[in-house]
Amino acid sequence: MSMGGVLQAVGDPASAISTVTWVLLVGGFLIFAAVMGLLGWTLRRDASRRDVHGAVWIWGAGVAFPAVVLATLFVWSMPFTPPWKPRPPAGALIVSVKAHMWWWEVRYRDPVTGADITTANEIRIPVGRPVYLALTSADVIHNFWVPQLAGKMDMLPGRMQHLLVHTREPGVWRGQCAEFCGEQHAQMALHVVGLEARAFDAWLAAQAQPAAPAASAVLAQGRAAFLAQRCDACHTVRGAGAAGILGPDLTHVGSRLHLGAGTLNNTQQARERWLAHIQQVKPGARMPSYDRLDTPTLEAIAAWLGSLQ
Ligand code: CUA
Repeated sequence: MSMGGVLQAVGDPASAISTVTWVLLVGGFLIFAAVMGLLGWTLRRDASRRDVHGAVWIWGAGVAFPAVVLATLFVWSMPFTPPWKPRPPAGALIVSVKAHMWWWEVRYRDPVTGADITTANEIRIPVGRPVYLALTSADVIHNFWVPQLAGKMDMLPGRMQHLLVHTREPGVWRGQCAEFCGEQHAQMALHVVGLEARAFDAWLAAQAQPAAPAASAVLAQGRAAFLAQRCDACHTVRGAGAAGILGPDLTHVGSRLHLGAGTLNNTQQARERWLAHIQQVKPGARMPSYDRLDTPTLEAIAAWLGSLQ
């Protein structure tokens, strides 16, 4: 997984940002070096000689020079500004992302049936195709930021914003909520996974399927315990009799890279820890710690969730 920043752009919107950043960095350094050079020269020259006129410097270097530089930069950078497009470009994949305290609800449209496909905390996108993200929030203001893919965009309750992202190569890029949104703002990460077009289509088709049936006695026990503990009051597992809408959809949670919006790697051990001690791992998360469960039950629920590929 890449932890890169703005300067390791992998797609067109991010490349525009890194180009502007480099020009400003290098240009700013050159001007700084020139000013320091002039300063050195004035300190070394013979102070009794009056070979420089103050007015020339004030009007030339103090007014004309910054005016020309700033006006030039303004005009040059205008084409890099993302256009305000209320509609997605032709051929774009449309993904809806709704921020919650402190996780991300992600929805795709099934290209076959038109039904919603809901997942969480991980956005998979096809390489080379523009992706139009429709961004909103369920509660407070959050901000969507995956530095290697695009700039930042606020996510506001009651309002739809959008952001175009794009990648030229497969990979995994970490993003982060970039607007302070409460206790677990720092652990509100997300991951974007770039897949080749065919792999993406296969992944989306798999996400559209209901949950895999429990293939062993332990997994069936895990599923029964999940329902007995009323996890279905908040979570949906399509095909397993769970249809809660307060928390992340878990229909294919086993296929995701992380738990808890980038908080833990998705392993059996981490799932057990998450279930039993979520309030230590991510204090304030909208789920109680299930530390009263006996170990076999905990292991069975964690195993069943892991089997939901
Ligand atoms: Cu959501 Cu910070």
